[in-house]
Amino acid sequence: MADRRVLTNLRGLWTPDPARAWAVDRIPGAALALEDGRVAWMGRAGDLPAAWADAPEVDGGGAWATPGFVDPHTHLLFGGNRSGEFNRRLAGVSYQQIAAEGGGIRETVRATREASVDELVATGEARLQAFRQRGVVHLECKTGYGLELESESRLTAAYAELKRRGPSLGISLDVTLLPAHDIAPEFAGDAEANLRAVAEDWLPELVRRHPGVARFCDIFVETGVYTVDQGRRMFEAGKRLGLIPRVHADELTWTGGAELAAEVGAASADHLMFCSEAGMKAMAAADVTPVLLPATTLFLGMRDWAPARKMIEAGCRVALATDFNPGSCPCVDPLTILRLGCLQLRMTFEEAFTAMTLHAARSLRRDDLGHLHPGARAEVLLWDVEELLELVYWVGEPYRPRFLGA
Ligand code: NIG
Ligand code: FE
Repeated sequence: MADRRVLTNLRGLWTPDPARAWAVDRIPGAALALEDGRVAWMGRAGDLPAAWADAPEVDGGGAWATPGFVDPHTHLLFGGNRSGEFNRRLAGVSYQQIAAEGGGIRETVRATREASVDELVATGEARLQAFRQRGVVHLECKTGYGLELESESRLTAAYAELKRRGPSLGISLDVTLLPAHDIAPEFAGDAEANLRAVAEDWLPELVRRHPGVARFCDIFVETGVYTVDQGRRMFEAGKRLGLIPRVHADELTWTGGAELAAEVGAASADHLMFCSEAGMKAMAAADVTPVLLPATTLFLGMRDWAPARKMIEAGCRVALATDFNPGSCPCVDPLTILRLGCLQLRMTFEEAFTAMTLHAARSLRRDDLGHLHPGARAEVLLWDVEELLELVYWVGEPYRPRFLGA
């Protein structure tokens, strides 16, 4: 027997339209017909097809219904935290200076290498619960704080376990291999040798040991880390293993990361505070999703907000994400991202919400998430507000959605 239900008594339904880049359906007094965990029909309650008349009703309690948030860029698993470094930055020391002294990412690498798979799974589960409570139903998560094969393998094993627990946690995962997150201490000063180890040894071995766990691979292309050419070679190796490229690009300086993403057919290019106009056009033409991370700009105390408006004008379908990580953005809150998207990236509310639902899912090549049109997964958030815009307007208000059946 099919599980059929109709969600009624909604103030309204708000969903991006997957068929049109930035279009939004805003349907007051809506109903939603759900069958076996998928949306079967949506529209005005009065137009509900007769075939659904006898289906059990779920009371929406007068809320606004939206699709669940998708977070397409997190570094979910790491050991320790960097509050000490944060305090030094507040005293005026720069992020780059701390990294140059062997702190920063390297500090987290030391703590992560000491963590067992069980410890990583336990902290990961608690963090996933924090995301879920805030309305995130699907999340991308990267390795990258191991920087050597065995630690990267433990991170991948922990992600495999968290994927298995996903259904009971109410959050599904896409895993990205990022062993090229930085130059490992063992390769200090020799990015080229490190890159060869990643491309020729670590990536194939991680895929061999953990088949089917990761869908994507990523690299930090940045001045003083990996070059565009090294990124290209890493992606060639990743693609041979069936991994789709995403790239940390143009975050602290311009290096041509967006152009590289377009060239290799990446699903996304992420950060992009220093993206060139040529890079924007190339991303639009190659259907690369720019994933913007405004809470990172905020937390690093930078003034260079990613040029979201120019990207939209160039034809890009911009996505938003948290970049949750211990150094540049310890934030699990999608509403903070929406608020910064509106207030600092100058996106409209509709654009920001679409960027953290439909386009976020698109950047993960998932077409059944981020909207509530027929065929979508029934990941529905219920918000007890008069107007959805209030989620952004009441800055700092800790809204939490209700979930279907919860
Ligand atoms: O996305 N750019 C590289 N990686 C992270 C920061 C890593 C860290 O500071 O721990 C980022 O910003
Ligand atoms: Fe990141």
